[in-house]
Amino acid sequence: MIERQIWIVDFGSQYTQLITRKTRELGYSSEIVTLEEYDERLSKGIKPNALIFSGGPQSLSEDKTDYKKYFEDESLPVLGICYGMQIMAREFKGVVDKGYQGEYGHAKIYTINNFEVPHCPKEINVWMSHFDHVTKAPDTFEVVLESNNKMIAGIKHKTRPLLGFQFHPEVEHSDHGLDLLSYFYKDLAGLKKDWSPKAMLEEAFELVKSIGDTQVLCAFSGGVDSLVAATLAQKVLGDKIHCFFVDNGLLRPQDYDHIDLLKKETPLNIEIIDAKDEFFDSFEGMADPEDKRKAIGKTFIEIFEKKVHEYEDSHGIHFSHLLQGTLYPDVIESISPHKKGGKSVTIKSHHNVGGLPERMKLKLLEPLRLLFKDEVRKIGEELGLNHDWVHRHPFPGPGIGVRVLGELSRESVKKVQESDQILFEELHNFHQYNACWQAFTVFLPVKTVGVKGDARAYENVICVRIVNSSDGMTAVWSDMPRDFLSKVSSRICNEVSGITRVVYDITSKPPGTIEWE
Ligand code: XMP
Repeated sequence: MIERQIWIVDFGSQYTQLITRKTRELGYSSEIVTLEEYDERLSKGIKPNALIFSGGPQSLSEDKTDYKKYFEDESLPVLGICYGMQIMAREFKGVVDKGYQGEYGHAKIYTINNFEVPHCPKEINVWMSHFDHVTKAPDTFEVVLESNNKMIAGIKHKTRPLLGFQFHPEVEHSDHGLDLLSYFYKDLAGLKKDWSPKAMLEEAFELVKSIGDTQVLCAFSGGVDSLVAATLAQKVLGDKIHCFFVDNGLLRPQDYDHIDLLKKETPLNIEIIDAKDEFFDSFEGMADPEDKRKAIGKTFIEIFEKKVHEYEDSHGIHFSHLLQGTLYPDVIESISPHKKGGKSVTIKSHHNVGGLPERMKLKLLEPLRLLFKDEVRKIGEELGLNHDWVHRHPFPGPGIGVRVLGELSRESVKKVQESDQILFEELHNFHQYNACWQAFTVFLPVKTVGVKGDARAYENVICVRIVNSSDGMTAVWSDMPRDFLSKVSSRICNEVSGITRVVYDITSKPPGTIEWE
């Protein structure tokens, strides 16, 4: 297990994950911890090589925590970002004022007092998002960055490796964010790079080895996460890893081709379960999005469990573990402090294999649980997997089931399958597939008037949705080439029966979600 040399104490900022990502992008291992976890490790004498205090939504005036002990070790480098900088300033007897007007968005800041950051100009555009601010730096610090209205934007201890940024170097909107972070890790903290796809892979192998000589089951979708997880597990466990692919009838033509290809071209043992009829029987006639999702989820678990037991009996084996491609964002979601005690609202009841491990009494094997999607793609490449396979767009567990609005029927699923195939072909023809995060079509159960040939048509609508995102948590609609959109629209109207109109979704997330249901 690689010891993570940088720990990021999460005070609930919406950007904490980004700090980890950027840190790893720079080649340094890092992980997110809560203040309680940090305390626990400190009490055991376990320390990081450097610490980051993240931003947070609260006001320091209401936070009575005594942070003194976190700054007692004079050699420990600490970077405070936004709220983290305010904590640092207060602990060293600077002044933090409750702001009456927040500062959100772009700001220009300047380096002062001969502060120099390699590759960084004197004037930098950064992203601010704060209410309180430091109005007087502690005497032991100097102000090194100032905004154009003379507000303190950065402070640095005169002798110790302590640095504070009021802005967010981790967000894309901050220019030279990586240079500023790198200054802290390399120049101030003197850390050595230790994070690479090879190191990540070694760690994942170790985890798989640690479960011993045992039979492992994988709910396999053929998507990036399950493919990478299964491939690396296969390298350790050989034919003791068994992949089950459930055909719920809600897949696209490209998914069937993909599975056939994986069966042919990888050493994975993939068992295909054709359960189209059972699935259609379970949701036929349902129109409510949550009812449909739940029915698909429930049927999945029932069929999976039944088929796995049959397989165990016929092969004379017993599964001890369920391999899952869980990623770090899902893990962090469940430990994030701002979630604690609060009731989070369910926007959509995501399902993939939810409920399976408890019901089937399987231990979980999650070799990707500390990785982000882009890192999973990198180790997929390191494993020698085909570039196209590890750069596939995400596809939701309930498949086309969440892309047919209103009543789900075989006929409407077929219309989405056909229009999706057209979209997919044209994305490739126009070399746009790799330029977007996700692209798909949605069947709208509204009828509109059109003309086909010389006759009046009164038929349904297909919506094309294409977005860019880095993790699916936020997304922007993609501004696609006009020729591409025209081609997709005319082909869908001409080639998919019962469709007279194609619309393009120009909603970002938030306020929309990526899927329509
Ligand atoms: P939303 O619609 O929540 O989607 O903005 C964000 C990302 O998650 C995918 N998605 C799912 N993935 N099971 C999944 O595996 C699900 O139930 C599910 N629902 C949405 C969606 O395609 C997008 O990439």
